[in-house]
Amino acid sequence: MPTRVPRIAPSEITPPEVYFNRRTLIAAALASGASALLPAAEAPLPASGALSYTANPRYSVSEQPNKLQEIAAYNNFYEFGTDKESPSENAHSLRTRPWSVQVYGEAEVRGTFHLEDLLEGQALEERIYRFRCVEAWSLVVPWVGFPLSSLLARFKPTSRAKFVEFTTLYDPQQMPGQRSRVLNWPYLEGLRMDEATHPLTLMVVGLYGRVLPNQDGAPLRLIVPWKYGFKSIKSIVKIGFSAAQPRNTWNVSAPGEYGFYANVNPQVDHPRWSQATERRIGAPFLAARRPTLPFNGYAEQVASLYQGMDLRRNF
Ligand code: MTE
Repeated sequence: MPTRVPRIAPSEITPPEVYFNRRTLIAAALASGASALLPAAEAPLPASGALSYTANPRYSVSEQPNKLQEIAAYNNFYEFGTDKESPSENAHSLRTRPWSVQVYGEAEVRGTFHLEDLLEGQALEERIYRFRCVEAWSLVVPWVGFPLSSLLARFKPTSRAKFVEFTTLYDPQQMPGQRSRVLNWPYLEGLRMDEATHPLTLMVVGLYGRVLPNQDGAPLRLIVPWKYGFKSIKSIVKIGFSAAQPRNTWNVSAPGEYGFYANVNPQVDHPRWSQATERRIGAPFLAARRPTLPFNGYAEQVASLYQGMDLRRNF
């Protein structure tokens, strides 16, 4: 696996005078509190193909990543159907350009931003993370993205911002699964501010060095590696800052089964199945079941966030 892909040719890079002028324009739009939906910056994120990034071994596990085929053909993305194969079969109807994200709530900088502007100046990293679904299967994935904290800081959250909420696109034309009432649409998720700004929490735009396949949540998704996969919301179009704990779709759908925190915890079973072990997708049959790790193996980095909390009640 390459750790770096060739950078774009100098002739393709926006000249500094254009860049800085653009920066000034965006800064002015932001300062005025107006929408910053100016013409998009030249794409730092291609619509498809290879990305430019550096590997971040500090935040990577040494386990063998799953094959791309395993990551991109066994998905949960109910907007495209409920079978594991449905997203890879149906997500071609999602148009990921142009894409904009609305930022609202308890922050000084609000408005609607082109994806390109949100990503401008963000250095992309590859991080190999464990990924644990609440359904007791797991993967190891080489994501490409950047810390969510470095995006949130640009919006200058106020002291009232205690939570961040995220919303997926709602468009039944592009997302045929939304014509069914299997979940309340649009898909919603949320994090406490200290979880959102933890260095492990990633905004993801790619995997295996390339732009995210649509079925994995293109063009922008969240990854919170110590939590069950349903927290990792896909195809994000809104980011909001709030004083109150946001709703999250699976909790609204089945509050007794899915909580807000959703920290991976082998000691707290799902009411209908054990969480003590998990099945690693793609592993040989006998090696496939392995013990679930507290906080999915990230306890050393994140357990302190929950000190004093009853993790059975706050599941
Ligand atoms: N985001 C949206 N918008 N819709 C979904 O159905 N499923 C969640 C999460 N994010 C989901 C979503 C669940 S249950 C899991 S396990 C992960 O996405 C799966 O991510 P993957 O398909 O990339 O492995």
